[in-house]
Amino acid sequence: MEKSRPYVILSAAISIDGKIATRTGRSNLSSTKDLIRMHNLRKNVDAILVGKNTVNIDNPLLTVRYVKGKNPIRVILDSKGSLSLKSKVILTAKKTPTILVVSESAPRNMERFIVKGVEIIRCGRKKIDIKRLLKILGEKGIKRIVVEGGGITNWYFFKEKLVDEIVITITPYVLGGSDAISLVEGIGFSKISNSFKLKQIKKLQNEIVLRYVS
Ligand SMILES: NC(=O)c1ccc[n+]([C@@H]2O[C@H](COP(=O)([O-])OP(=O)(O)OC[C@H]3O[C@@H](n4cnc5c(N)ncnc54)[C@H](OP(=O)(O)O)[C@@H]3O)[C@@H](O)[C@H]2O)c1
Repeated sequence: MEKSRPYVILSAAISIDGKIATRTGRSNLSSTKDLIRMHNLRKNVDAILVGKNTVNIDNPLLTVRYVKGKNPIRVILDSKGSLSLKSKVILTAKKTPTILVVSESAPRNMERFIVKGVEIIRCGRKKIDIKRLLKILGEKGIKRIVVEGGGITNWYFFKEKLVDEIVITITPYVLGGSDAISLVEGIGFSKISNSFKLKQIKKLQNEIVLRYVS
């Protein structure tokens, strides 16, 4: 692992068949026990990162609520700077630090976000260069980051070999559907080579939490 980049933990709740949402975008798969586990993880990292679609579809707060603890900095990947100003993450940015990551091709004027308290990072020509982004976040003092999806975002992290740890909760649902988002989207690997070591198996009531490291 390069020293200058944060440690990356990829966390998700999946169905038995590996989906992270239904074909209509519903993703509330976790039980309360699992949400507590998730929020315990959030309070122990410096930043939480998600892709734009997750914000648009779930409108999450990305804060620590099920346990007591400090909120991580929220980092949203949105290459075109097109996130709705009505998203909860934007509306609460003065209270909880929020970074919007856009590419060089996004409009120059990001004032509408800045006045809401959002910090802008520009990184990558058309797409966001996440390797460079992690370096920038590391320079800001971010040492540990949890990536909470969705599938497209997860793919970019696996593709660039930037995942140090995976924490997956298998929830007791079967969602099906070729249009339902899987844990990892994108074009995928052509060879079976990207393996992780299984470090922990934990049973919650009706769920299994698996922890792998690279
Ligand atoms: N069960 C779970 O644990 C869980 C967790 C999170 C999300 N979800 C579900 O996942 C679904 C959304 O997932 P998704 O795969 O459609 O999208 P996503 O990963 O949330 O967002 C992807 C978008 O982020 C932007 N982006 C820009 N640069 C990127 C880069 N380098 N890497 C990654 N993303 C970049 C892109 O939009 P631009 O090109 O416009 O910039 C891209 O289309 C929702 O239904 C949500 O409910 C489930």
